[in-house]
Amino acid sequence: MTVPSRPHDQETILVTGGAGFIGSHTVVELLSLGKHLVIVDNLCNSSEEALHRAKILANNNGSLVFHKADILDAIALERVFEQHKFSACIHFAGLKAVGESAQIPLGYYQTNVTGTLNVIQLLQKYNCRNFIFSSSATVYGLPTSEAPIKEDASIGALNPYGRTKQYIEEILQDIAVSEPNLWNIILLRYFNPVGAHQSGIIGEDPNGIPNNLMPFVAQVAIGRRPVISVFGDDYDTKDGTGVRDYIHIVDLAKGHVAALNKIQSTVAANSALGCVPYNLGSGVGYSVMDMIHTMSKSVGRALPYKAVARRVGDVGSVIADPSLSERELGWKAEKTLQDMCDDLWRWQTQNPDGYITTSGTSTPTTPTPASHSSIVTLPTTLLPIVTSVPKATLKPIALDTEADSPAAFAMALSPSSSPAPGPNADIAF
Ligand code: UD1
Repeated sequence: MTVPSRPHDQETILVTGGAGFIGSHTVVELLSLGKHLVIVDNLCNSSEEALHRAKILANNNGSLVFHKADILDAIALERVFEQHKFSACIHFAGLKAVGESAQIPLGYYQTNVTGTLNVIQLLQKYNCRNFIFSSSATVYGLPTSEAPIKEDASIGALNPYGRTKQYIEEILQDIAVSEPNLWNIILLRYFNPVGAHQSGIIGEDPNGIPNNLMPFVAQVAIGRRPVISVFGDDYDTKDGTGVRDYIHIVDLAKGHVAALNKIQSTVAANSALGCVPYNLGSGVGYSVMDMIHTMSKSVGRALPYKAVARRVGDVGSVIADPSLSERELGWKAEKTLQDMCDDLWRWQTQNPDGYITTSGTSTPTTPTPASHSSIVTLPTTLLPIVTSVPKATLKPIALDTEADSPAAFAMALSPSSSPAPGPNADIAF
């Protein structure tokens, strides 16, 4: 089928799952560079508020259009493609809880694999073959040695979530091979992303009890949970607790910018990458006890913890070899472990209940300074206080640059100045 050409003078990037933890931090970096973004997110584990804040953090640079849509809804997705001409796609949308994936594997395969196929089919149909995939170090499964893991290590995920990532990687490899010299696909294998934006304005807001270590530690620090459970103290590591390669979320976000640059320069050179994996990690391992001690410094008091049995499926040590990313993407992690903990604590203290409170969308509270790094001062008092943001199921919410000042932004969002439109109306901010 011939696709009608649409006028466009600026490159537009499709970001699926852009309202989530990794997505929203990447959105800040891309907007700050003046990029034009179209975000598709069903908000099942994320908040539209993160996008409003991302826009402010980027000083209203670039542009952002939000479509609340599910990647499983191929019709809704195609409407997005009909409205925008994409130069590249960064695909974050998907489910990510390891334990849940064992309980509802079908749901995970459906959302992650079928959802990705929907996105890829439309990219192919609308002639965009530049794709960055949110993969995970989980694809490596049980490391065969303690040595830092290189991208050519054997693959073998250990749980349904991990297998969705692995299968998608394999599908993407097949697609790249099927159309030689056309696709530029970068698989970004994340190690352990933690922390928050240095402003404390956006961060990780997990649903329910956090599965991962650092969000749990942060909730103990703020008093939402009593004690940290340390899973296993008899691993063959320096203090017996699990060692991981933690990476600051802003460093990780910048890894996506580096990947995008790599694709753009490849396209400019009339070449094609095919499908290439890159590790995004720091290359340094820290133990659970290192994390608790460092976070205790950020918080200013010792955090309570207790040793419990190993978690099923856990491994002792997982560390990236990030040298390929440094060599080929010109990217490396720069922030320290203390930065990760200070920024996480700043986010947690400013947003003790995450983005949403019982009364609606929260406004960050007065920051509690972390003692180890400076706070980026932002007009937090001008952030919108919204009890209900009108939602449009398939229609875009344009976070355009007209209402550029934070004050105008807040005005535009106030329920009195922004009457709820009908179900099919566009909502312009
Ligand atoms: C987990 C997932 C992995 C996923 C990654 C995303 C499992 C088995 N693996 O990896 O597939 O890609 O998150 O970030 O769930 N720990 C505690 N107490 C806690 C939580 C964790 O001691 O309450 C320990 C763990 O045993 C581990 C370390 O902290 O040694 C990090 O755990 P976590 O944050 O869950 O990440 P991973 O296990 O690396």
